[in-house]
Amino acid sequence: MTKAINIMKREHLSLNTVLHVLNQLVLDLEAGRLKSSDVDYDLIEKIMTYIEEFIDTMHHPKEDDYLFPALLKKTSEANDVIMELQEQHKQGVEHRKKLEIHIQAMKDKHPGQVEKVVDVLKDYLTAHREHMKLEDNVVIPLAERVLDEEDWAPIEAAFNNNADPLFGDVPKNKFRKLLSDITFLAPAPIGLGGKR
Ligand SMILES: [Fe+2]
Ligand SMILES: [Fe+2]
Repeated sequence: MTKAINIMKREHLSLNTVLHVLNQLVLDLEAGRLKSSDVDYDLIEKIMTYIEEFIDTMHHPKEDDYLFPALLKKTSEANDVIMELQEQHKQGVEHRKKLEIHIQAMKDKHPGQVEKVVDVLKDYLTAHREHMKLEDNVVIPLAERVLDEEDWAPIEAAFNNNADPLFGDVPKNKFRKLLSDITFLAPAPIGLGGKR
């Protein structure tokens, strides 16, 4: 497995952890175990920042700008899938903004917003899971099959944070800290529930 694939899979795992926390929020709100006034908004804000600044700003563009073009150049086998994934990247940003608006409205105690957050979040989680499934099960195996060492070089450089000035140490440390804060604050069994 190439280093780029390793990094991409690791980033998917991190995103999965974060989505798992949001899924727990959906379940608790829906079952009435959690009131909107008791939601840990600090944790939710950190999650949304992580998704906005890491997943939507760094992870997806690396796929759009390096992995997908390399594949499109090499084979037409996954043209439809790649077009769909590119579209999902764009929609994901809009979807996140919509979600943030409803979370803020729930925090501000606007009526009907708990149900709205639950609905929008459910769609958001499903979309992300389907998206990653396509990448993990279709795109990555195809890339492993058709790309050669020369094709991988620029992809490696982009995915390897240290080799790309855009993805240097500062953001890397920032996101590492954000992720560790999220797992610290997230309720058990995903996180430590804010307790050491
Ligand atoms: Fe993606
Ligand atoms: Fe991805």
